[in-house]
Amino acid sequence: MREIYLNGRYMPLEEAKIPVLDRGFLFGDGVYEVIPVFDGRPFRLAQHMERLDNSLHSIRIGNPLELDDWERIFARLTFPTPDLDQMVYLQVTRGVDPIRNHLFAEGVAPTVFVMSWEAKPRDPAISSDGVAAVVLDDYRWQRCDIKSTALLGNVLLRQEAQDAGADEAILVRDGLVTEGSSTNAFAIQGGEILTPPKSNLLLRGVTRDLVLELAQEAGMPCAERQITRDELETADEVWICSSSREVQPVTRLDGKPVGEGVPGPLFGRIYGLFQDYKARLRSGDV
Ligand code: PDD
Repeated sequence: MREIYLNGRYMPLEEAKIPVLDRGFLFGDGVYEVIPVFDGRPFRLAQHMERLDNSLHSIRIGNPLELDDWERIFARLTFPTPDLDQMVYLQVTRGVDPIRNHLFAEGVAPTVFVMSWEAKPRDPAISSDGVAAVVLDDYRWQRCDIKSTALLGNVLLRQEAQDAGADEAILVRDGLVTEGSSTNAFAIQGGEILTPPKSNLLLRGVTRDLVLELAQEAGMPCAERQITRDELETADEVWICSSSREVQPVTRLDGKPVGEGVPGPLFGRIYGLFQDYKARLRSGDV
């Protein structure tokens, strides 16, 4: 039976209950993180916890737990089994209101929920053939830097991509790429790895930052700069990345091939560097 953590207690998933006046349920008034765990070792824990702090700070909730407490919970819900990839999901909401009211109530304790699951084995066809994406208008709100559980825009856009036969939507606002519906986006133009700069219009992905770091360490030219829709559509390579997808090549965009329509040479390099990083994490070197 799967065990989860809810407000200080461990219990089977089936027994976990949230009151209907929880503001996470009523307003999507909460934040979350998704953290990969390889052989029991959390991936870039410090970066995920820093982003959690930033999200909580932005919505004016104090972090309800110390880092040690979070780590103890993650350790209890995951296993140090070789070759077992897991994901930890944590969510903090503003808690349970006495009545439904947009305004914050005084003295309400945040709701803290943590669960984990086994990651699906990677499908080798994704890195050998790539995935399809469509370009959609980014109609989400202007605080996409907050990892909010209020994901209606992201959910609708992802579904729209799926309905169009694609795996992801790459979003464009005012003619500029922001990110994917649940990923960050990269475009390769003239041998340079481009990704939009950090701003309130996109989530600062932990995987994105690692991809940039690995590329820089390997001496691959990269820049955090705006990418126009035209640059995306004429890119030699397009990549998407996230905690759950790692780095994936987009080989079809709006039904047309990206570059040669197969994963490009720079993807091959970054994919190798990413797998090396995971191997180092498994052996405790990073
Ligand atoms: N999504 N942008 C958005 C809108 C996201 O939802 C995500 C991650 C990312 C990538 O961030 P990271 O590399 O830190 O996972 C970018 C998670 C995985 C999710 O909602 O399931």
